[in-house]
Amino acid sequence: MSKITDIELYKLARKSAKNAYAPFSGFKVGAAILTTGGDVFTGVNVENSSYGATICAERVACTKAVSEGFREFEAIAIATYGGVEASPCGMCRQFLFEFAPKLRVITGKNEDEIEVSNLDELLPKGFRL
Ligand code: THU
Repeated sequence: MSKITDIELYKLARKSAKNAYAPFSGFKVGAAILTTGGDVFTGVNVENSSYGATICAERVACTKAVSEGFREFEAIAIATYGGVEASPCGMCRQFLFEFAPKLRVITGKNEDEIEVSNLDELLPKGFRL
């Protein structure tokens, strides 16, 4: 299977953002995580009346993949519905670090201005037991 490009992954993230449940912040986020085998899982932020129970799009995408038996990841793209760049929060960085310390992280306001970084730059010295 040929793997999708960073821009294609970004577009999948943005497309999924329309399903975000974000009635409190109004900030809809979509994520698409690419496994080393070429499978893609998307996720959206799901907010809650008890604000602290909110889960970010990145962790939803990752937990969907893990729950389906996929644990090796190559890249994740994150996009918002409103054309604003979103960079993964600290908790998501640590969460993703568990599975893929060198994950490629694709962000950007739109597909013509994507930015690519590596998780180990975004989270130096992430925690592992
Ligand atoms: N959020 C994400 O889903 N991913 C990010 O990278 C940044 C923040 C969500 C959490 C919350 O629902 C909303 O954006 C505002 O913080």
